[in-house]
Amino acid sequence: MTGWQVRDYTADDLEALVRLDGESGTTGEPALFRLSDAVAALQALHPAVIATADGLVIGAAVSRVDGDRAWILRICMTPSLRHRGLGSALLAALERRLFDAGVRTLYAILPEDETGAVALRNRGFEDRSGLVFFEKRAPAITQEVSVLSEIGAELPPTGLWRQVAGMEREKQLIERRLVLPLARPELAAEHGVELPRAVMLFGPPGTGKSTFAHAVAGRLGWPFLELFPARLAAEYGLAAGLSRSFEEISRLEHVLVFIDEVEEVAGERGGADATAVGIVNELLKAIVRFRTRDGRLLICATNNVTSLDPAFLRHGRFDYVMPIGPPDLKARTALWESYLARVGADADVVALAAASTGFTPADIAHVARTVSQTVFERTCDTGIRARPTTDDYLETVHRTHATVSTDMAQQFAEQTERFARL
Ligand SMILES: Nc1ncnc2c1ncn2[C@@H]1O[C@H](COP(=O)(O)OP(=O)(O)OP(=O)(O)O)[C@@H](O)[C@H]1O
Ligand SMILES: [Mg+2]
Repeated sequence: MTGWQVRDYTADDLEALVRLDGESGTTGEPALFRLSDAVAALQALHPAVIATADGLVIGAAVSRVDGDRAWILRICMTPSLRHRGLGSALLAALERRLFDAGVRTLYAILPEDETGAVALRNRGFEDRSGLVFFEKRAPAITQEVSVLSEIGAELPPTGLWRQVAGMEREKQLIERRLVLPLARPELAAEHGVELPRAVMLFGPPGTGKSTFAHAVAGRLGWPFLELFPARLAAEYGLAAGLSRSFEEISRLEHVLVFIDEVEEVAGERGGADATAVGIVNELLKAIVRFRTRDGRLLICATNNVTSLDPAFLRHGRFDYVMPIGPPDLKARTALWESYLARVGADADVVALAAASTGFTPADIAHVARTVSQTVFERTCDTGIRARPTTDDYLETVHRTHATVSTDMAQQFAEQTERFARL
């Protein structure tokens, strides 16, 4: 990299900024200001600056002016560029614009040691250590929280998106097609972009479909509700169960609804089983109804896209049909790096990525867990703190059955060709 340039933010930078925001945090703590707050400030043309290097956006700082005071809503940067003065350069440029605009005081609130904290100190921002940060939510939200638990929804932590290692292609697609329009509905509408309402994810077991669904909810700050059609069918009958669930959901302003293994209820209607036909029809109708309101997203996942009833995948039901495939070499490398970093293991990532062809994220997670247990036992047995070695990982990799065989990978490629709608 040949150095960076800092300039004013323009509307074209938004997508890169949203992506950067997802990568930038280091503490896993939620930011005080939501991404939508930052986007709103950008849209209202509050001062913001962007750092670029080699034409890529590598850093951003976003503010919101309030009279002669301003809040720094975001300081984000490519993680590998921390501690090189980039944060300070961004802040210096932003400060200049704010002071020129008549702002006299700047405020920032960050989780302890979050990206940007060092830059703030370097730029002479002082810790107001005597202050306590109080927070109280309006009763309406308290009510929403109780509604959440009543209907079995949860608010996923915001850090999930960052923990999704590798899988850059899938992440980027999901970010662009789902997160961006839902985070900026007005701008999407201005462009004639219809908000996504329902998405189908397909791919072999353990590739991260459920993980992505959770992470999208975390990213949007929306409650997450998993529906179990088989359970609904048993308790109330599917039709009544679904309409009951959807009625309950309408009490929430926003919600991401997830249905896993949807092929179990949306399998092909060819058979003589009249109940099954009824169930598929009910689900189809429920999806059409679900699509009529804003602020909701349905994500369905399946391991077996070929077994879905074709009516299910027809246009007008699912906006996108996205393949979530086995990680390629690059994604496996990132996955291994992330799992090794969690335990401070100094192992040969290149060798591990090469040895784990056909492994899903779930397989890699399994190997990492197994090695951790082995090494822990070793420490207990010897009384000497053991560390996992490359061989520990490689041996476990060789003993582990790869979920995605060559045949399956081939089938998945064919299914992608045939069913993907991006
Ligand atoms: N990109 C990722 N980075 C880190 N861990 C991941 C990633 N994707 C998945 N995992 C981990 O792998 C495991 C399996 O993921 P997940 O349950 O999301 O897969 P799935 O595609 O929903 O599987 P299934 O088809 O069996 O429902 C989980 O423990 C999850 O935490
Ligand atoms: Mg799953």
